[in-house]
Amino acid sequence: MKKVLITRKLLRSNEERMSKLWDAKFNLNDEVYSQNKLIELSKDCDGILSSILDKIDEETINKLPDSVKIISNFAVGFGNIDIKAARKKNVIITNTPDILTDATAEIAMLLILGAARRASEGLKWARNKNWKWSVDFLIGKQLEGSRLGILGMGRIGRAVSLRAKAFGMQIHYHNRTRLKTDLEAGANYHDSIKSLFSVSDILSINCPATPETTNIINKETLEFFPKGAIITNSARGDMIDDEDMVQALISKRIFSLGLDVYKGEPNIHPGYLNQPNVFILPHLGSATMKTRTAMADLAIDNIEEYFKTGICKNMVN
Ligand code: DGY
Repeated sequence: MKKVLITRKLLRSNEERMSKLWDAKFNLNDEVYSQNKLIELSKDCDGILSSILDKIDEETINKLPDSVKIISNFAVGFGNIDIKAARKKNVIITNTPDILTDATAEIAMLLILGAARRASEGLKWARNKNWKWSVDFLIGKQLEGSRLGILGMGRIGRAVSLRAKAFGMQIHYHNRTRLKTDLEAGANYHDSIKSLFSVSDILSINCPATPETTNIINKETLEFFPKGAIITNSARGDMIDDEDMVQALISKRIFSLGLDVYKGEPNIHPGYLNQPNVFILPHLGSATMKTRTAMADLAIDNIEEYFKTGICKNMVN
């Protein structure tokens, strides 16, 4: 029987499936393993089912026992793993694409709505009871008729676009390559971020974290937006220079911000916590029972496919 280390606690139905397939090493307390502990626990394992909080960098990859041939990441993103170092060591890395598209697009819409309609401030007022309806109380921005810029028009970006259209928004996007007309579905393509940002009343960040997209929202690029724009991020925290963003919120250059993801999670830049116009969630993009179950099933399928055939269709390296 193959031996597999599962680094985080998964849903019971998924754990039951794994118990039948493998000699599965579960994480009963759901602690986040240090790099050393992960290496130690991988002893004699054939594979690892990892999650986004496992920092599997070059040093960790090189110290893993040679028996580990596959790391199946329980996420569509894989920025937590050095995939090049893994390739050098002949360890394949897989992810869980497609199945979290709808759940993540729903959270992207929640961020857009929450930031545009001042949900954080609204919740605070509603809870402290000391409020009264008045004509200019917590005036927000209306989605209908506004321009939504989508940075990264992959599966999730397109699912956001579909939902935003139902709210009456006009869709603009930037991608490394222009989409075919049927996938574009009437959205306006911009060949540079400057051009996209300059028409974005609201921006939804849906691109992967790469060296090219790291801090793509910074002091200089924030100037490209119309004054009073809204920015939302349901992809990865790496894309935003937090210091520059806090300054843009203070100066009101940016009206509000909606975030589900952060640099160095679970830490959140303290500047965001002090700003009333920031709507924040704790990385809930894929957090529905349907999606989390499907993600684990796919992460398991990836390992199974690899054990049976020596390859896997969701390989990312
Ligand atoms: C992913 O799959 O990358 C998600 O962010 C995890 O929730």
